[in-house]
Amino acid sequence: MSQYDTHTYDVLVIGAGGAGLRAAIEASSAGVSVGLVCKSLLGKAHTVMAEGGVAAALANVDERDSWKVHFADTMRGGQYLNNWRMAEIHAKEAPDRVRELEAWGALFDRTSDGRILQRNFGGHQYPRLAHVGDRTGLEMIRVLQDHGIHQGVDVHMECTVVSILKDGDRISGAFGYEREKGRFKLFCAKAIVLATGGVGKAYKITSNSWEYTGDGHSLAYHAGAELIDMEFVQFHPTGMVWPPSVRGILVTEGVRGEGGILKNNLGERFMFDHIPELYVNQTSDDPEEGWRYTQGDRNARRPPELLTRDHVARCIVSEVQEGRGSPHGGVFLDISWIKEKLSNSEVHIKRKLPSMYHQFMQLADLDITKEPMEVGPTTHYIMGGIRVDGDSQMTCVPGLFASGECGAGLHGANRLGGNSLSDLLVLGKRAGEYAAKFAKENSEATLSGTEIESSASWALRFFNSDADSNGANPFQIQYNLQDLMQELVGIARSEEGLNNARVQIQNLMDQSEQISIGGNREYNPGWHTALDLHSLMTVSESIALAASERKASIGAHSRDDYPEKEEPGAGKYNTVVQKSEDGTMEVRREPIPPVRDDLQAIIEEMG
Ligand code: FUM
Repeated sequence: MSQYDTHTYDVLVIGAGGAGLRAAIEASSAGVSVGLVCKSLLGKAHTVMAEGGVAAALANVDERDSWKVHFADTMRGGQYLNNWRMAEIHAKEAPDRVRELEAWGALFDRTSDGRILQRNFGGHQYPRLAHVGDRTGLEMIRVLQDHGIHQGVDVHMECTVVSILKDGDRISGAFGYEREKGRFKLFCAKAIVLATGGVGKAYKITSNSWEYTGDGHSLAYHAGAELIDMEFVQFHPTGMVWPPSVRGILVTEGVRGEGGILKNNLGERFMFDHIPELYVNQTSDDPEEGWRYTQGDRNARRPPELLTRDHVARCIVSEVQEGRGSPHGGVFLDISWIKEKLSNSEVHIKRKLPSMYHQFMQLADLDITKEPMEVGPTTHYIMGGIRVDGDSQMTCVPGLFASGECGAGLHGANRLGGNSLSDLLVLGKRAGEYAAKFAKENSEATLSGTEIESSASWALRFFNSDADSNGANPFQIQYNLQDLMQELVGIARSEEGLNNARVQIQNLMDQSEQISIGGNREYNPGWHTALDLHSLMTVSESIALAASERKASIGAHSRDDYPEKEEPGAGKYNTVVQKSEDGTMEVRREPIPPVRDDLQAIIEEMG
């Protein structure tokens, strides 16, 4: 053991996006020692891709907003498969977390009377997204990083964790390696918070960058934790589609929040013809009520482009499939039309959407103040993930916590835009708080030398000198995996496709055991990819398995062969994936506990 660079902490946080940073800050302010591991450089996190804002019922722009409306919107958006306790905590605590962030230095856009400005976003009944132009996630990371560093959190950059170590049932630490030099690092910890983000790199078209290979999901699964609702993968409706080199890069929902409209190649604003039942014909006496629609009502105050993401993404796909798409397989998103009602529209667009302006100007040679963008769905987020207790964020493995995108429950079958940033602030704080409490209440666990040695030889197995020098290529395997996930486990799914996907994933898993890596451990991207494949295979298998188990089309999970929202008699349930005693992956259904009476009353009151 002494041969490894060893670090001992009360709480180890793995992942340094918004959730990891917020957890680390909270644990550290509870007076325990905290280590923070990030796969990339500190500050480079998918949090920055939540560009359009953080959802919190501050009621600064519309005083009718409240935590109750936010709670009801989140539940409706998640098709009532959400963990309602998490949705309650999230809606109640989000405003305080945003104000706290402001007190730590975040500079939000302001209303004319100086309060935090809020904008419209999909599925939120009132303007609720506190924002900084279209760089909200970036501003949040800047502030959290600054705060965390000054708080004394110990940061390990460019380090990948490959296994969670255990002492009996509880966790005892983690084993990883420095990406630059390939040297191993050993972490001894009483509690661990996983905050590694999502799984986007399992798909070909994604807004995620190279880090997002489902590491936390996989670490938790192999340590004995449960994964729930993995079938719910969010395809954000608007990613860039052209030129090919930038396909998938996010086009913030903030564009639609600022008035951007979607059109097909006939110039039709097609979303008006696709209002789902849940929102139709619910008339209100209040003329200002912006939420309710009548099918085809082109005068609705609230634009139909701001329906939930799962729905808008599917509508775009059907426009393209029916031959009404844009030249490069998307549809048109137009913000330039606001010049009809705003004389200074160019200045306005550049001020409210500066990143989008530069992104399209520099990457696509297109001026969004004058021309429509071409956009199409991109894999953005996974609602499913590690099952945690709603209050404490602890998994079923004592001492192992999860938060942010890799934790699950809050968003149900579909997440509302902006709820990820509030999720990571609210539940990240709680994860840090309860991990610190766990560390204070428990003695140090014992590390096992055998477990450490087997982690080391497992990570080095691709360098085995006996390995076939013509062994499989990790980059090709990842490419093939992304291809099949996009094709067979993407926006539209079927039993045949999912079965086919599962067979192909198994084949790729077998191939990935035949990888042989040349060179040594320093600066070796082939080795990094070979290790990432283990996580990618685990999450891909679990998504395909859970998708096959849910024989219905609900939220972000859409089955061509089961178009109904619920199987007759099945009720509301979570799919639960867990490793069986013999090491195979198993799936089961567990009924969702009935919503507490007072919360159910709120849902009913909100219509
Ligand atoms: O479109 C966006 O700005 C993304 C926000 C989110 O995913 O929450």
